[in-house]
Amino acid sequence: RILILDFGSQYTQLIARRIREAGVYCELHPYDVDADTIRAFDPNGVILSGGPQSVHEAETPRAEPCVFELGVPVLGICYGLQTMSAQLGGTVIPSTHREYGYAQVRARGHSRLLRDIEDHNNSEGHALLDVWMSHGDRVETLPPGFTVIAETDNAPLAGIADEGRRFYGVQFHPEVTHTRQGQRIIERFVHEICGCGRLWTPDNIIEDSIARVRELVGDEKVLLGLSGGVDSSVVAALLHRAIGDQLTCVFVDNGLLRLGEGDQVMRTFARHMGVRVIRADAEDRFLGRLKGVNDPEQKRKIIGNTFIEVFDDEANKIKDVKWLAQGTIYPDVIESAGSKTGKAKVIKSHHNVGGLPEEMNLKLVEPLRELFKDEVRKIGIELGLPSEMVYRHPFPGPGLGVRILGEVQKDYAQTLRQADNIFIEELRKADLYDQVSQAFAVFLPVRSVGVVGDNRLYAHVIALRAVETIDFMTARWAHLPYDFLDLVCRRIANEVPGISRVVYDITGKPPGTIEWE
Ligand code: XMP
Repeated sequence: RILILDFGSQYTQLIARRIREAGVYCELHPYDVDADTIRAFDPNGVILSGGPQSVHEAETPRAEPCVFELGVPVLGICYGLQTMSAQLGGTVIPSTHREYGYAQVRARGHSRLLRDIEDHNNSEGHALLDVWMSHGDRVETLPPGFTVIAETDNAPLAGIADEGRRFYGVQFHPEVTHTRQGQRIIERFVHEICGCGRLWTPDNIIEDSIARVRELVGDEKVLLGLSGGVDSSVVAALLHRAIGDQLTCVFVDNGLLRLGEGDQVMRTFARHMGVRVIRADAEDRFLGRLKGVNDPEQKRKIIGNTFIEVFDDEANKIKDVKWLAQGTIYPDVIESAGSKTGKAKVIKSHHNVGGLPEEMNLKLVEPLRELFKDEVRKIGIELGLPSEMVYRHPFPGPGLGVRILGEVQKDYAQTLRQADNIFIEELRKADLYDQVSQAFAVFLPVRSVGVVGDNRLYAHVIALRAVETIDFMTARWAHLPYDFLDLVCRRIANEVPGISRVVYDITGKPPGTIEWE
């Protein structure tokens, strides 16, 4: 297991993901985590991340000194290299040449970290690496015991090592894909230098989680709000395997789901897997509450509160439940920890299953708490969930409620479901579904004039939205082929009654959000 100390670089999560991809368990902690926690974690190696600070500023963050006394390898990346140098007796100065973006690094000597790793070779036979740099400071003099293992024209000390103590530092970022050999460098560190095996595999993760869940809950009953989204679906499959009928899922059909979604959830979990699922058909209750409400924030609140009421009603019918399962995943944990310690900026608050009432007085079981989304997906597949479910685009909690602009009405929802289904079906047929990050239709309750045969049509509008994004914080609209859009438009206009016009949304985020409300 590897410990990553986070100095606040925007790439820190990537370090963790690369290590997990190498099959090694790791955890990310704030740089000032206390020495007891570090010792208790008992790492086989430590990575010091990059960070936005300069080592000269007053009160600059320092790694807890015990990391250099554990007797395990340490790798400092960017700011991590600089603070390691400063803490171990070297000097760091502001560089006159700032380096951002692509750079070429020459390897020197035969360090264990970089040996035999190269992108090119120069005329003198030096190994060259294409890397991603982002720094303003540079190491000026080496700490005692260190030698230079890589250099650039601007940074003669772009990589340093103390092979005896197994301390390494690189000025570039091996965790970003622009550093072409980055994954190999990280694997070299965790596998060969730290001696960690490839044990963090989907199989092992599942077995490990099952054992832990069994130990945690014993023979007590567990309740789970199953939404059909990836996280809660994987929790359901995992808990079912761990504790069988001690698990009861409540699936709330709010009448704002996509076409056939409720039936699919019941088919997959109840019928195929034998999971105990209670389906609460609450369409009337939700639509009743939403009657006459136009304001998006108010709609969201009503949908959230009604969800809690319905869930609570169903939960009260089950006797002796002691645990509530949730699909919290590692990025949620890091993000809320970051917001407490102030190390990372909070971009968005997460609400898993709408914040269930505390007076339910249940203990929490969160079996995905240590997993990244791609790991959750892999174990979902391993647990036998259908890949369309596991690789599905995200769907917001308030569902079609925020995709029908203004007041939600039952017939609007029906119309939207049909149009949305045509769009998604065609995306899958054209092999475009997995190329976009999220795609859906939006119902616009304005009417425009059309002509069908010889008749005048005065009907509603459907907007299509498809975006490409990595983190959903910013997005670019998907440049879908015109012929494809043409086909989707014709099918919607012909097959969905009440629609006279189809438009395609070409707004990026920013300025638009992904959803329309
Ligand atoms: P926006 O519209 O903010 O969406 O650009 C970013 C991502 O978040 C999803 N989203 C939500 N998810 N509850 C959710 O669970 C919500 O209220 C909600 N609003 C937006 C949206 O679908 C997109 O993936």
